[in-house]
Amino acid sequence: MIIARSTAELQAALRPVREEALSGVAFVPTMGSLHEGHISLLRAAQQPGDFTVASVFVNPTQFSPGEDFELYPRDEDRDLELLDQAGLTLAFVPSVADMYPVDFATRVLADPSLTSCLCGASRGPQHFDGVTSVVARLFGLVTPNSAWFGEKDWQQLQVVRSMSADIFPGIEIRSGATVRDQDGLALSSRNARLTPAGRLRASAIPKALLNSQQDNFSPTRTTAEDLLEEATQAFSSAEIELDYLQIRDGQSLQPVSGSITEAPNARMFIAANLDGVRLIDNVPIFSSPNHQPDRAAAATLAGSTR
Ligand code: PAJ
Repeated sequence: MIIARSTAELQAALRPVREEALSGVAFVPTMGSLHEGHISLLRAAQQPGDFTVASVFVNPTQFSPGEDFELYPRDEDRDLELLDQAGLTLAFVPSVADMYPVDFATRVLADPSLTSCLCGASRGPQHFDGVTSVVARLFGLVTPNSAWFGEKDWQQLQVVRSMSADIFPGIEIRSGATVRDQDGLALSSRNARLTPAGRLRASAIPKALLNSQQDNFSPTRTTAEDLLEEATQAFSSAEIELDYLQIRDGQSLQPVSGSITEAPNARMFIAANLDGVRLIDNVPIFSSPNHQPDRAAAATLAGSTR
């Protein structure tokens, strides 16, 4: 595995690939402190013959003042070892000064209808502006054919899709399913900062989300409001402090209300604070994202005695 620690080293490592155009470049951007969620994206990105690049960069511009930029876990040696083991071709590990030289002045702002809700509302607009700006800079440096993002950060995925379609239409944005721990908790670099007691309580998050899914929700609960009420109760019993709990359309991220069967792409989104650690997760309400319930199916669901 080649390790590029600066943009100059990155360009040198990519030169043969560009000159010979022998293979596609697949790219997985990360902030390091890698876990199986990141590695699953790397594995999915690795098509035979492809040149696979991952970046490890804790991007300061997507953290607001007072957020956990300083506390964000970092373990470069372990990250490089895991990337090497995963069969990566090139690791890009730039410094802040290299990514943001003193004269760096450009910001890339994504569609506000995607960035102003959910995490954009609670973390502030600079969060996604920081994400789109760094991803655009990374795309410009790596010039990949495809780039991979996790569905765990669903809003980020939609924001990057929209930004990339506008500015980098040649890059194919691909997504990987959320990788979960045995109790269902979505893997996150931040999980390492939970206390053992907090980690136990955190399992209420996937449990409540799972309960809201089509096959599991109670037959008397047929509207988005019903599902939210049920999940809110579960979180309050588990003493989990919610930042938000919402049901929105998976593509437009617009709020969903009323009969849930009328919203085939609806997803439940949650952000919670445990032990001062911010955790996010989301699930589709219907298992197939393209589920198109007809009236009969909707009636069966509503009238089911399961
Ligand atoms: P980071 O949190 O390190 O995540 C890197 C990628 O791994 C993201 O696409 C994220 O959605 C994915 N990921 C994280 N946990 C996952 C899990 N449990 N299952 C599947 N995929 C998972 O997201 C970022 O970094 C940054 O915002 C970044 C895009 C790198 C820009 O700085």
